[in-house]
Amino acid sequence: MSDLRFDCTKGAGKVCDNCIMDWQQRVTDAHNIITQGTGAGSDYLGWLRLPLEYDRDEFARIKQVADEIRNNAEIFLVIGIGGSYLGARAVIEMLKGPLFNMVPGKNTPQVLFLGCNISGSYVRDCLKIIEGKSVYVNVISKSGTTTEPAIAFRIIKEYMEEHYGQAEASRRIVVTTDAHRGALKTMADKCGYRQFVVPDDIGGRYSVLTAVGLLPIAAAGCDIDQLMAGAAKAYELYSNPDLKTNDCYRYAVARNILLAKDYSIEILTNYEPALHSFGEWWKQLYGESEGKDGRGLFPAAVDCTTDLHSMGQYIQEGRRILFETVINVETSQEDVIINEDLQNFDGMNFLAGRTMQYVNSKATMGTVLAHNDGGNPILMLHVSGLNEYVVGQMIYFFELACGVSGYLLGVNPFNQPGVEEYKKNMFALLGKPGYEDRRQELEARL
Ligand code: PA5
Repeated sequence: MSDLRFDCTKGAGKVCDNCIMDWQQRVTDAHNIITQGTGAGSDYLGWLRLPLEYDRDEFARIKQVADEIRNNAEIFLVIGIGGSYLGARAVIEMLKGPLFNMVPGKNTPQVLFLGCNISGSYVRDCLKIIEGKSVYVNVISKSGTTTEPAIAFRIIKEYMEEHYGQAEASRRIVVTTDAHRGALKTMADKCGYRQFVVPDDIGGRYSVLTAVGLLPIAAAGCDIDQLMAGAAKAYELYSNPDLKTNDCYRYAVARNILLAKDYSIEILTNYEPALHSFGEWWKQLYGESEGKDGRGLFPAAVDCTTDLHSMGQYIQEGRRILFETVINVETSQEDVIINEDLQNFDGMNFLAGRTMQYVNSKATMGTVLAHNDGGNPILMLHVSGLNEYVVGQMIYFFELACGVSGYLLGVNPFNQPGVEEYKKNMFALLGKPGYEDRRQELEARL
């Protein structure tokens, strides 16, 4: 049986297998546009055949450096923002669990993510945590000029040079950036840092299976061979656009059908805390790819059952503008059996002998049916379990579905013109040279 199975039987009458089939011609066209590289943004299709055609030499080097980091670092600082950190964080948490940094007995460094905000107190806490520990750093920025990671790296570089001296600091800092351009590239060349490349034809949000994601993922002790093998499997599985068999494209169509019926918010719902950051990665992927030209679903994510106690009311009875895509993980690597308690004060003895996974699975289906009764269409992606091979398939499934979905929607899924606007205002207000006119105009409005 497949590791990923798409299921729209809980579509609340708004989406169904038959109506998905009506989109066959449009999907075949979108598939051809992607595979032949004839659509808007086609300069950024490097991710499409990446699982088959990745640079084997660089991959071997990634594993080598990751081994060195695993063997020598107590703390591994990963500095990046957006597509330059979300994928790595998502995969590490899916495979190692959200508490991976605190689990005793592991032989991998603690991984801390930095440069994904502009908070002084966050950086101050990181500096306290790393003091006296053996630290390695991976700074990741495709453009090499993004403010958040640049500031964080400036502070960490100073720390590393003070604590290790110039030469040893340079050995412990690894840079992932453009092969030719950018401030980070220039700095890496000057300081002699080891470097990995973000390929020109792969945008940030599609870069998790390049060195951007692979180095942190491997340093955290995950098997990147299996991750790539899973992605290659997904490439093969979804290479035929026939909607009778292509679950990835069926998902892309289903969400467009629902959008056309004014369901304008898609919630990615998980029932495993390990999937929290996957929701963050997915939000960036779909939000940046589709939210443009006044179009696109608004991507949201909830962690269940946690958020049923906060967002559950709205999802059940609020405005009927949302649908859910539920990621249903069918098996758990680790589990706990609920024991009988002779006193049974909490009245939970009816669960004695059951596993938490069993209870979670009933909570999942009970909630799906309740939300259906509330009028929410639910799409489901059944996932056999969370291991590298399956996670590789999931990444590719959502990347490919996003590209096809964007073309079905009529947008360029591979640019992000809107991301620049806040940066220009921030630079202007901070007094960066070259932004004087904008600064004057903004200050008049404040
Ligand atoms: O998807 C994108 O392109 C963005 O979200 C970037 O990943 C993010 O802005 C970070 O950019 P960079 O890697 O250039 O620092």
